[in-house]
Order: sequence, then C-alpha cells, then structure tokens
Amino acid sequence: MIPRPNVTDPGRVIAHRGASQVAPENTLSAVRAARDQGVWWIEFDVSLLGDGTPVVHHDATLDRCTSAQGPLTDITMADLAGIRAGVRHGPAFAEEPLPTLEAVLDLLEELDFHANLELKPHDGTVGALSRAVSVALNKRPWTEERIITSSFKLKELTAFRELMPDAPIAVLFDKPPEGWRHHLDALNAAALHLHYTHVTETILREAASFGIDTRVFTINEPGLMAAFRDRGLTSVITDHPPLFLDQSDWASWARS
Ligand code: G3P
Ligand code: MG
Repeated sequence: MIPRPNVTDPGRVIAHRGASQVAPENTLSAVRAARDQGVWWIEFDVSLLGDGTPVVHHDATLDRCTSAQGPLTDITMADLAGIRAGVRHGPAFAEEPLPTLEAVLDLLEELDFHANLELKPHDGTVGALSRAVSVALNKRPWTEERIITSSFKLKELTAFRELMPDAPIAVLFDKPPEGWRHHLDALNAAALHLHYTHVTETILREAASFGIDTRVFTINEPGLMAAFRDRGLTSVITDHPPLFLDQSDWASWARS
C-alpha cells in the first residue's frame, strides 16, 4: 500500500469512476476497491435525478449500468431503493446501490480520500447541477482541500465557479483547443484534464509554467505515457491503478 498523501498531495494515480475494473463503476464498492488497490484519489461523475437529487452516475440513462432503464431524469430519490448498480458485475455486487453524491462524499470523508468530481449535466440546463453539488460540498469543509471539480461543459463550470469562488476546478477537454489557457484563466482553474492521446510536451511545459496541473484520462496502457511521466505530467486517471502501481518506475513516480 502506498503512503497516504497529505491534503496537498497532487495524487499521481487516480482511479477512474472508482476502481472500475474490479467493481461497478461510480459505486461505493468502487471507492473501497480503489483504497484496497493502494490509491487515495478517485474520479467520479455526478448527474441529477428528476427531482434534483445529485447522484454518482456517468450516463444520461440507467440502461448500461443498472437494473433499471430509461433516462436518469425520469426517476427520483424514492426510486433509488429499487435500483441496483452492480447487476452486470456478478453476485458479489448484486445489492450495490446507485449512490447519491451525499453517500459518496460521506465515504470519501470516512476514508480520508481525495477526488475529482466531474459534473455531467444531462438535462440540457445550466447551473442546476452546480447548485446541487455546491450545497453538498459547502456542508463539508474538508472538500475544499480534497475535491477538484471538473467538466467538459464550460458553461456549467462557469456556473459552478460563480457559486464556489474558492473551489479547485479542472477544465476537461478531449483535445485542448488553441488558446486553451484562456478558458482556464477565465475560470481560475487549477488544472487541465485531457484525453491521453492529445497530451504533448508543449502542453505540459506551458501548463507547468503557469502552475497548472495536467492530468490525462483514461489511460490503461502505462507505456503510452512513459515519455511524459517525468516531463510535467501531474496524474494519470485509469480504470485499473495496479497497471501503474505494480510497475516499479510508475510506483516510484506515484510516490514522488
Ligand atoms: O474525468 C475524466 C473522464 O472521466 C472523462 O470522461 O466519459 O469517462 O467521464 P468520462
Ligand atoms: Mg468522468
């Protein structure tokens, strides 16, 4: 098990949707599995139910990951009791709930975890998700140091920033556009999160020169990132942290 970071640790190896290779993605079991794998950071996705309850879930619908079907916005908090989020992962996860954001934050606090909370507004509106998330975060002062909020949706991030002037923010791009720094400056963002196929030494150098952290998603082939490991890459977001932590060169990087 790697040493637990202090609150300012950048978190080198981050479990994507929790340890989603060995447990159902975006569930409480996936958070616990990440801890068991020896990481102290996870990434997870947050969306709203029809009644405005924030839940930890990636898709716009329930179809792929749960025992139910249809749009997430068609259900309410009361429906969660009848929905299972681990049905595709065998009997060990048969009773796995679809977790609320509150439940995941409580577990992160219990485990002393760090996390990247990704805003996934699926309902076409702007701001409702940020308002719900800000209420949950503001109830927990520890999140100021241990949660960084990201989104592909710049308008949603702008709404989040207005509500949370001091919260750490990461801007998510598949491929950073020309002038990507302008977007980070406008949001006073601390980090750039990009698809691993688009990372370059130029981006890493530019980000580092402005004190911006750079993280890549979702990388499950460590060899593809070896050239960037010691050239300014802050973190890797992976479905399976042992791919990195079980290799001595990556394990030492993870601890650095
Ligand atoms: O936050 C990084 C990554 O999770 C973004 O893509 O679709 O897996 O949420 P996605
Ligand atoms: Mg995500």
